[in-house]
This record gives sequence, C-alpha cells and structure tokens, in this order.
Amino acid sequence: QKDEKKEMMVIHELLSKLYHHLLMNTEHGKKAMDYLLNRGFTEDVINRFQIGYAPPAWDTAVSFLTKRSMPVHLAEQSGLLAKRQFDGKYFDRFRNRIMFPIHDRNGTVIAFGGRVLGEGEPKYLNSPETKIFQKGKNLYNLHAARPEIRKAQHAVVFEGYVDAIAAFRAGVNNGVATLGTSLTEEQAVILKRNAQTVTICYDSDRAGVEAAFRASQILQKAGCTVKIAQMPDGMDPDDYIREYGSDKFVTDIIGASMTVMGFKIRYYRRGKNLQDEGERMLYIEEIIKEISQLPKAVERDHYLRQIASEFNLSLDALKQQHGQTQRQFQ
Ligand code: CTP
Ligand code: MN
Ligand code: MN
Ligand code: MN
Ligand code: MN
Repeated sequence: QKDEKKEMMVIHELLSKLYHHLLMNTEHGKKAMDYLLNRGFTEDVINRFQIGYAPPAWDTAVSFLTKRSMPVHLAEQSGLLAKRQFDGKYFDRFRNRIMFPIHDRNGTVIAFGGRVLGEGEPKYLNSPETKIFQKGKNLYNLHAARPEIRKAQHAVVFEGYVDAIAAFRAGVNNGVATLGTSLTEEQAVILKRNAQTVTICYDSDRAGVEAAFRASQILQKAGCTVKIAQMPDGMDPDDYIREYGSDKFVTDIIGASMTVMGFKIRYYRRGKNLQDEGERMLYIEEIIKEISQLPKAVERDHYLRQIASEFNLSLDALKQQHGQTQRQFQ
C-alpha cells in the first residue's frame, strides 16, 4: 500500500520530466511551446512550474513506462493511462495537451492538469482522485509559495493554474490555486495554518463571484481574515495582467482588494439606481440579510450604522428589520 503510493509518485515524477523534456527540446513540442509563448509564458516560468507537453500519440507514456519496467497498472489507477475495452491494452489518457504538474506540499508531483492547445473540450483534463491525490486537500503551487505565504502571513487564492502562474510572473509569489473544485474546508485549514490573511482573486464572471462568496465563508469559518480582489467584468487575473501589466495588477487589483462586506456592498449596488425608491429598498434588504449573517455583533452594528447614515434611516427601524431577518435565519 505504502509502496504503491511511492511508486505512483515515481511514475508522476518520471512523466513530468518526460513531458517537460518533450516540450522544451523536441520538434513535437514546438506547437505547444509557441502556444505558451504566445500566451505570455517565458522559458523561465515554464521551467519553474515544470510545464510540459503530452504529444498526440496514444502510447507516449505507455511505451516510456513499459521500457522502464514501471507498474503500468498503477499508472492506470492514477488516471494517466486507460484500458482499451476490446483487447485490454493500455493507452495514454493525456494526449496533445499542455501538462501542468500538480505537486504535494513536499514538491512531489502527484497529479496533472492537462490543457488543450487552443479550443477544445474538455478544456482541462485533470487527474482523478487517487491514493496520492485528493483535490480537496491540495492546492496548486503551495509547495513553492509556502515560504512567501508564511513570511507575509498572506496568501492569494486563484481559480486557475494559469492565473497562479501569471500572478507569479507579475511578482505575486504567494499565490495558489484550487484544483478544479470550489475551495474546501480542508484547504481553508491549510491556508490558515500558513497565513492570517487570504485574498480571493477569482475570475470576474458570475461563477467566479459566487464562488468567491462561498470561499469567503469557508475561509472565515477557518479563522482567516478574508479579502476579495476583483478584475473588471469578464476578466480573469491572467487576462488582466496581459492587458494592463504586472504593476497595475499588484497595485490596482491585489492592493485594492476589499473586505468581504465591502465587496458585497459593491456587488449588490451594481446596476441599481439607488435614487429609485424600490431599487433602494431592495438593496437595503439584501444588505441587511448579509449583515445578519456576520458572526460578530460589533461588525453587524458597524454596518447597520453605516447604512442608517448613508440612507438617512433611523437606526431603530433598521435594527428592527435586522432582528426579523436574523430570526428568519435561525
Ligand atoms: N477547470 C477544469 N476543467 C474545465 C474547466 C476548468 O478543471 N473543463 C478548472 C481548471 O483548474 C481551471 C479552472 O477551473 O484552471 C478555471 O477555469 P477557467 O477560468 O475556465 O480556465 P482558466 O484558468 O482561465 O484557463 P485558460 O486561461 O487556460 O483558459
Ligand atoms: Mn527544465
Ligand atoms: Mn472561470
Ligand atoms: Mn479563467
Ligand atoms: Mn484564463
């Protein structure tokens, strides 16, 4: 059992070296290299993140592992290979994809995320859950970012591998990414062990904003101080950095991240005309609902006062409505 895990790790390490080599040094890898360079990756970054390329052939990994007498059934269990139904022969699952190795906290490769070059479905093919890889218990790039995270007591969480890498290029060295799922309690606990403050920097689309709300709750429950950074509509961190550059990303996006409540206030305000009585009331109701879910009485009081003064309402009336909302939630 323990040996099997070790052997799985050896297989992942070997393949990540193979894929990296194929990307860097072969004709096969040229198309993939062009794709990466076009997207703003540099050779230095490709080396640092051990990015690779799995060619279109059906047997790149099978042949490689067989030649080295590696236990191919473990490669199958890891989702690297699959079995042909009619004759039981193994073939590569990752073909013609950019390979992003995923490391555990010690820096050992335990899984891959494989991206198609350009358009195609699925955009990312990821390793399944295995004996050595649990998506919800690992974070992309944690092994490399951990010293910086601890030093700064601050981590930044992204949605995608490419965002964590682009941010690194921009000088944000304390960035990690979730692994194709929403942030889990286990991941929040890991982050809390390494940092007091966590900034969520997800894509600025509906899915990203909703995921940021959920993640902020989980992180706060784990005891983190949470901030949320936001790009202009429709952009993700990688898009933003390529469009506006590293400095602006660091100062205007990461540097300008908001408290969770500040972010929610802005979110509920968007597209509403607060001069209109109906829309204003709706907004106030939404915010009161958020306030009633805040864990600390002092915070609830702070935001209630803020709303009372902004909209010239009596604090008593607000508190009354807030009390009703709270009962409703209990
Ligand atoms: N993801 C996934 N499977 C997909 C799509 C997305 O696992 N079919 C995960 C990946 O981890 C991806 C993240 O969700 O990095 C964010 O998805 P998305 O924003 O669509 O991808 P990007 O990270 O922006 O990737 P790219 O810039 O290469 O398009
Ligand atoms: Mn290298
Ligand atoms: Mn997205
Ligand atoms: Mn994205
Ligand atoms: Mn992207």
